[in-house]
Amino acid sequence: MFFITFFAPFLVLASLISCASLDYSQVTANDGSSLFKRQGQKSCLNQNSIQKASSLTGQEKGTQGIKAGQSPSKTDPNNFINFCAGLELTNGKQITSGSCNGVVMGKIPAVSNMISTIITNPKPGDQLTSDTTFNVSIQATHLNAGHFVNPTTNYYTAPQDLGSNGDIIGHCHITVQDIGSMDATTPPDPSKFAFFKGIDDDGNGRGLLQATVDGGLPAGTYRVCTLMGAENHQPVIMPIAQRGAQDDCTKFTVVAKKGGASTSKNQKNGDMNKNQAEEGFVQGGSKGKAAQTKQTKGKGQR
Ligand SMILES: *[C@@H]1O[C@H](CO)[C@@H](O)[C@H](O)[C@H]1NC(C)=O
Repeated sequence: MFFITFFAPFLVLASLISCASLDYSQVTANDGSSLFKRQGQKSCLNQNSIQKASSLTGQEKGTQGIKAGQSPSKTDPNNFINFCAGLELTNGKQITSGSCNGVVMGKIPAVSNMISTIITNPKPGDQLTSDTTFNVSIQATHLNAGHFVNPTTNYYTAPQDLGSNGDIIGHCHITVQDIGSMDATTPPDPSKFAFFKGIDDDGNGRGLLQATVDGGLPAGTYRVCTLMGAENHQPVIMPIAQRGAQDDCTKFTVVAKKGGASTSKNQKNGDMNKNQAEEGFVQGGSKGKAAQTKQTKGKGQR
């Protein structure tokens, strides 16, 4: 009894501080019991996971690293935990009209564990024969390869994670796009591709990964790129800005083999509807409201 009457006010105060996700408007100020109840809920942001840097713009007087032309960062004292409130949530889906994903970015590897990749086949400038199966081969370092979740239901639903060796747990995608010519100056449409494959296995177990382009490609000029992803398909996140790229691209041509029209199923203008059974089903927004329709407030949430 002494505990309740004497300490309850302090407990309520503590819950206000540590339960950063609490929506104060839903609770009357003297409703100690419901504040107390919510303190133990897992949906509360733990005090020791709050990044104080997120409450600063980076442009406060005397801040290290200020340079002309920098933008002030958006701020939030509570890790932007309600950043997506009221918006179309990604909620594990590939939503073609855009969405907002509220899951934390996750674990970031050490510099010594950063991913690096080189495409070893096709080689730059190779002239492949049309409609003929070939392999895209890559050598990657520091990827715990072959790990991917259901892309239809769990797209971006969990943070990037590291294996016991400190390397990112994830997988590599291969994309091949028609670029028209070797000296193309128009960026290819990212929603169109001739070939796309998530490499599901860990290759030779030492970073040599392969995707077979079954049936090859029609004659043309192409760019092949890697697209490194963590387990939940998000692009990999690295510890420092100044680094070599985690991905590689190579350009090559495909020349028509003698006689007849192209028989390749990998047509130049394939799109996201092409491989859905393998790469996850895409869908339009359910609220008819794109993520960008609500302007983000400069400070705080709600
Ligand atoms: C592609 O790689 C696989 C696995 O190493 C191999 O069995 C196959 O022969 C290769 N295909 C071609 C066309 O090189």
